[in-house]
Amino acid sequence: MRKALIALLVLAVLSFAGAIAFVYSGVIDVSATTKDPGFVRWVLMKTMRRSAAARAEGIAPPALDAPDRVKKGAVGYEAMCSPCHGAPGREGSEIGKGLNPPPPDLAHSAKELTAAQLFWLTKNGVRMTGMPAFGPTHDDEAIWDIIAFVQRLPVMGAEEYATLTATSAEHHHH
Ligand code: HEC
Repeated sequence: MRKALIALLVLAVLSFAGAIAFVYSGVIDVSATTKDPGFVRWVLMKTMRRSAAARAEGIAPPALDAPDRVKKGAVGYEAMCSPCHGAPGREGSEIGKGLNPPPPDLAHSAKELTAAQLFWLTKNGVRMTGMPAFGPTHDDEAIWDIIAFVQRLPVMGAEEYATLTATSAEHHHH
């Protein structure tokens, strides 16, 4: 019994030392241009989606169909999201193109995620990725405006988007 305990302790100390040596060795390539293997991408994506699903359960969306919501949301989206996620008829900028994991096309995400899940992800961001949390800088209403817009992305063309973002002048912080 005692021997087993000592062996376990030695093993724990060795693996800790091994882990530290591994970190210090610099053997891991942290460059954003290094592609993760498919299964690693799958694990990360599933973890992110399941985490959002679990945490969005208690969130009840307000009415999202008011026309001024979509319009305000479009202006916010253009300023804060389009550089990474792109917009109808347009790809993301060089900022979005250099990210790993890549920012997904939110027209697809809008079909796969509920409003509450989209809201939770936008408010809280995704740790260790390029996806920022907008909760620290925006109130819930402003974030719901953007979600109302994101839900319209699957059916929105470049022209409608241009009209929505051109007419109302600026993106206001709350
Ligand atoms: C600086 C780049 C960047 C900006 C700006 C950004 N995002 Fe993201 N976003 C990302 C990245 C990268 C991911 C992928 C994270 C991952 O794969 O784990 C992501 C993921 C998401 C997801 C999850 C999509 C899915 O299919 O699971 C949502 C929703 C989202 N972003 C919404 C937004 C909204 C709304 C805005 C603007 C308010 C925004 N993002 C601004 C980089 C960005």
